Amino acid sequence: MHTLVADHPLIAHKLTALRDVHTETPVFRSLTDELVTLLAYEATRDVKVEPVQVHTPLATAEGAKLARPIPLVVPVLRAGIGMLDGMARLLPKADVGFVGLARDEETLVASTYATRLPADLTGRDTFVLDPMLATGGTLETVFGMLASRGAASLTAICLLAAPEGLARISEAFPDDFPVPVKVVTAGLDERLNERGYIVPGLGDAGDRLFGEI
Ligand code: URA
Repeated sequence: MHTLVADHPLIAHKLTALRDVHTETPVFRSLTDELVTLLAYEATRDVKVEPVQVHTPLATAEGAKLARPIPLVVPVLRAGIGMLDGMARLLPKADVGFVGLARDEETLVASTYATRLPADLTGRDTFVLDPMLATGGTLETVFGMLASRGAASLTAICLLAAPEGLARISEAFPDDFPVPVKVVTAGLDERLNERGYIVPGLGDAGDRLFGEI
């Protein structure tokens, strides 16, 4: 499993504003959107393309276009929905699948309540959108679903990650896992607290994006 902590001054600037307890929902949403587009640029670095010729007004040029089958983007409900537009800006032709997982606040174990994924992902690059990689339980489950359907690569885009979550994913998807596995994040934080929240983190990403239910 490869981890990329994006190192860029604009990412650091936006992440700092996102963490701020005084940042209100509309600004939080647009910062998330912008951050995801920046992270998506790194996350799609190895996406499969095929050679193509294009006719310019002057001559023929060699170029590239997204290879088929086209990638699949999977926002994890609910908070991952806040990341979809930022990702679609870079990969507008990708298909979108959905997985809904809810975390039991006592046991911190995530259970699946919705799955809308193609049955066959053979040859497809897949991108999971989940803002907070905390215990890693959700991402392990979603990566497992995609791998069992034959995905050609598994990449997660997270705003923040905790060392505990990264360790879990790296144990579940070791270096000899048959397909490439990558986590791209804007920041690697110190730890989880006893409630499974990332510290210093940014709080509950779903609540900050969409309000408390
Ligand atoms: N989910 C969140 O929204 N925030 C955390 O810190 C951990 C999990």
